[in-house]
Amino acid sequence: MSYYTISPCFKLDGEVSISGSKNAALPIIAASLLSGETSVIHNVPLLSDTANMCSLLKCSGAENIRRDGNTLYITPGEKSGGTIPLELATKLRASFLIIGPMLARYGKVKIPLPGGCQIGARPIDLHLKGFSAMGAKIKQGHGYVELKCDRLQPAKIYLDFPSVGATENLMIAASLINGESIIENAATEPEITNLAEYLHKMGAEIEGAGTDTIKINGRKVLKSAEHTIIPDRIEAGTFMAISAICKCRLKINNVIPDHLKPIIAKLKEMGINVNENDKSIEVIPCEKFKAVDIKTLPYPGFPTDMQAQFMSLMSVSEGTGVVIETIFENRFMQVPELLRMGANIKIDGRTAIVDGTKRLSGAKVHATDLRAGAALVIAALGAQGETEIDDIEHIERGYENFEKKLSKIGINIKKFTN
Ligand code: UD1
Repeated sequence: MSYYTISPCFKLDGEVSISGSKNAALPIIAASLLSGETSVIHNVPLLSDTANMCSLLKCSGAENIRRDGNTLYITPGEKSGGTIPLELATKLRASFLIIGPMLARYGKVKIPLPGGCQIGARPIDLHLKGFSAMGAKIKQGHGYVELKCDRLQPAKIYLDFPSVGATENLMIAASLINGESIIENAATEPEITNLAEYLHKMGAEIEGAGTDTIKINGRKVLKSAEHTIIPDRIEAGTFMAISAICKCRLKINNVIPDHLKPIIAKLKEMGINVNENDKSIEVIPCEKFKAVDIKTLPYPGFPTDMQAQFMSLMSVSEGTGVVIETIFENRFMQVPELLRMGANIKIDGRTAIVDGTKRLSGAKVHATDLRAGAALVIAALGAQGETEIDDIEHIERGYENFEKKLSKIGINIKKFTN
């Protein structure tokens, strides 16, 4: 087990560069199984999640995967193992993204049901309903779900909720089905658009990605493609919150400012200014920022993946703010830890009321999941004294070279491994 010690920071130096998006990379790596040749994917973040997705691909039918820095070369094979081992599936929550490519390419897949995680039950019923509409036969039992088909059929699918994972999984499968499939009430996140661009390069015709209706004209055979992963908007948002809590300017490079609109809007409402350039932004913090109300929503609403980090900011803001989490049922895991640091937060179901205090105090705290862990790093920077955060493997699952990037901008962070 590893842990960080972090001291408050009153001066940030220089600039930080944002890595490729974890959530865009995972479905794009999975979709590489669809072609017969080697695909090349650039700007893939070096994280345990992307490494686990590569391992998953290897046991799903990839013949060869080579990494050169942040570039992956993926060569799919002709045959698939068919069954995903439990040890591998439990390492990666997004393992279910392999269903679409395996089913479309090899006609069968057996995978352990994902089960809940720290932030909620996270069922995959919407994915399964979609595959069933495409003609897959689905069996569940003994903790596994098995999908089989002779040939998938194009389908018109209405998602009860604009699930990011279900939209991606179904888009990937539909790309290898001859004919037109339509996904209605689809997710509109930038990661969906990045995936659509990749599938388009592979030969599928895709219309409407980024809107709630996506039309996919798939092909019997897809070719390999070369593609670049978009910058990680959640990593960028986390560094924006770091700049705000340290009350120090920070230039954040390699971002797409358009993807950061809901985050920039909330920071501005707090009184923090953000200058937007073509591929970079600069955060210009203020001495005392105001509390705001936040409601997490599907894109372009405020992202659930930034809720915890903003709660840390609100813990030291002026006034009282309300946070409503509408996407996941159990996403306030950071709250007990923030309370240990002196925050004033009350929870009622999916609502948290955050009453700003002048300063938090450093304590020994626990990272329960990825974004809750990032929130504790931010809180530590606004606290008096040193904070020790354990179980940081959760944090490093989603932030490439986090400790190095923080040290480079002048933050006093040390990593220890027991
Ligand atoms: C993705 C992101 C995650 C982000 C989330 C919401 C990846 C790898 N992860 O997760 O970081 O927090 O989007 O922006 O991209 N649901 C169902 N049935 C389903 C599918 C989802 O009930 O079949 C529910 C979920 O339990 C959750 C909500 O829908 O309450 C949103 O889930 P979804 O959009 O699917 O999130 P993920 O794709 O798992």
